[in-house]
Amino acid sequence: MTVEEKIGQMLQLDARDDIDDHILRRQAGSILHTSPERLERAHALTAQTRLRIPLVVAEDCIHGHSFCEGATIFPTQLGMAATWDAALVEKAARTTAVEVAPTGVHWTFSPVLCITRDLRWGRVNETFGEDPHLIGELASAMVRGYQGDGLTDPTAILASAKHFAGYSETQGGRDASEADISRRKMRSWFLPPFERVAREGCRTFMLGYQTTDGIPITINEWLLSDVLRGEWGYTGTLITDWDNVGRMVWEQKVQPDIAHAAAAAVKAGNDMIMTTPTFFEGALEAIERGMLAASDLDAAVSRILTLKFELGLFEQPRHPDLVRMAEVLGAPDHAALNLEIARRSLVLLQNDGLLPLDGGLTAGSDGRALAAGPTRRIAVVGPLADDAQTQLGDWAGNSGQAGWLPDGQPREMITTVLDGLRAHVPSGWEVTHAEGAEILSLVPDPAGAHFPDGQPRPFVVEPAEPDDALIADAVARASEADYVVAVVGDRIELVGEARSTATLELVGAQIALLDALAATGKPLIVILLASKPLVLPPSALGASAILWVANPGMEGGRAIAELLLGLIEPTGRLPLSFARHVGQQPTYYNQIRGQHGDRYADLTQSPAWAFGEGLSYTTVEYADARILTPSVTAGDTVRAEVTVRNTGSRPALETVQVYVSDVVTSVSWADKELKHFVQVPLTPGEERVVELELPASACTIVDAQARRVVEPGEFELRIGPSSRDEQLLPVRFEITG
Ligand code: IFM
Repeated sequence: MTVEEKIGQMLQLDARDDIDDHILRRQAGSILHTSPERLERAHALTAQTRLRIPLVVAEDCIHGHSFCEGATIFPTQLGMAATWDAALVEKAARTTAVEVAPTGVHWTFSPVLCITRDLRWGRVNETFGEDPHLIGELASAMVRGYQGDGLTDPTAILASAKHFAGYSETQGGRDASEADISRRKMRSWFLPPFERVAREGCRTFMLGYQTTDGIPITINEWLLSDVLRGEWGYTGTLITDWDNVGRMVWEQKVQPDIAHAAAAAVKAGNDMIMTTPTFFEGALEAIERGMLAASDLDAAVSRILTLKFELGLFEQPRHPDLVRMAEVLGAPDHAALNLEIARRSLVLLQNDGLLPLDGGLTAGSDGRALAAGPTRRIAVVGPLADDAQTQLGDWAGNSGQAGWLPDGQPREMITTVLDGLRAHVPSGWEVTHAEGAEILSLVPDPAGAHFPDGQPRPFVVEPAEPDDALIADAVARASEADYVVAVVGDRIELVGEARSTATLELVGAQIALLDALAATGKPLIVILLASKPLVLPPSALGASAILWVANPGMEGGRAIAELLLGLIEPTGRLPLSFARHVGQQPTYYNQIRGQHGDRYADLTQSPAWAFGEGLSYTTVEYADARILTPSVTAGDTVRAEVTVRNTGSRPALETVQVYVSDVVTSVSWADKELKHFVQVPLTPGEERVVELELPASACTIVDAQARRVVEPGEFELRIGPSSRDEQLLPVRFEITG
């Protein structure tokens, strides 16, 4: 290969740009953000190049195929995390791969392994929440799902663990702001999920945007060379994030020109350079000026070619297969899985007994609830009750990041909350609807701000003012109803990259609407259809029930209706904590011991709802926590038992959570960390002794020398239904040296 051909292989181009000439003259190794037409054109042009090396095609298919009309859109990654079910997450990823592969895409930029810190960050919805253990379990499952039985399987796609590492540690939630993370802190919280998937064979890693200790992650040699490639022995492919190389020149201003930036990126071990077309000239100039040797490119190029060989692209380039696409996109069994995941993802936060409605109904053979008492009228109100595209969340072919499908996914594939209730209430019941409030409008940006890629941002969000007529209409519906279901939350314009929010309150006229609904005195159920935890106003906190549904995907409305009617049980658990007030940020549960007190002068520090919480329609009691291995070595297994009993009259799927507390540590450490969980089905009245096992080697801290170690001494297992100490049963054991 010539030097030019090698540099070309390292380039990933945005297929929405005019890239024809680039492919022909300078070549490209990869494209992203395609459509079937763009894709075929890029392949045809590549076939005219001297070596005809096939393109590897990438897309952000992070909860379903993000640009393809008719694809199955699952709950967002955060929604899926609320299932706490790795097997389900693996199935979602497998199904996504089955839908993505025939569209000619070989590589998904998923999963996201960032740990949620400040909830104002715009990308909380893309994470698995705030806990490294839960993230590791679910990310590992997702990678297995995408990569299947091996890359030669035509339904396998490449996974990409992102954003390596520490991108979510923001300043004030602002996207890609300085991530002030010491190496010790990096090893403590941010790296463990990445290490796990690196060792398990995740074929690609994507870098974050941020700088840490003054160094852009793109050229952080400690992280990329010493840790990833050195300690972890990672042989996969590393890709930058969007224009990271150019960004070092025009945004972070740590490189004087593109030649220096290109040289630094190559030397730090980057393989694929996302959307910096000028990397081509920069790398050539760097070689001419002696900043880079041509041989410095070889490792990167061979890793890219290896990927292509492993995928079998030289023999079978995997172009779009329209027949297969028609068979698999949105297939009925995919929709059924989607419904199952949506059902499991709903988290019941509050319930004074109103739910399930009418004490719970049963489903007829058509899925509709059967009447068991008087007919009812339900008022379904709120701006998100029938907002199909927002229900899907970001990266879903709607009006969000990718924005491929001008009208979003086909409306008929999406069941909104309004649709779901209409279809599932017993016949004879009435469902009325009013929008009640608007959230926002988009107005021309007076400041002329820019997107991260330098494109002008034409519009900014303007919160909507309360509209008396809309509110009056909703109040009228509520006043004549037996039950009021208010669907509120956030919209796609408040979510995503470079879309962090300064506040966590409900935007626009939603609080005024909730206040007015509460004033009717009617039984109120708040459905929080929100990409991330939001802070609720007193009128919502005073509601009979609150259900957080994240962005629950195409089947979300049906799952929500079934839950309200008692056709299914609430089983979701929070993968992250909810704040009471935006000023409590960050609210993650595993904070370091030693701060003074547990209150601000003007507010408690405790979250509104803590990591791991979620109600059922029944009650489960924990008793008799016992340690079976009072003394172990670091190589042993810690074994314990706990008795759980369903003391209510409905079935439960109980998520038994096991936290480890190292009683005395050589450095300050979290008071407890989730290390194990198991989901236990319990019929009414059933009692089970649950066996719990975890390797003692999981009981580590990161010491003052930044080494992950087990420090012999006393430990506590805290066993229970959530991270709240009041709900946990402690048992002690020791690890001997
Ligand atoms: O994969 C994404 C990444 O998460 C954020 N920046 C753009 C990439 C490609 O779309």
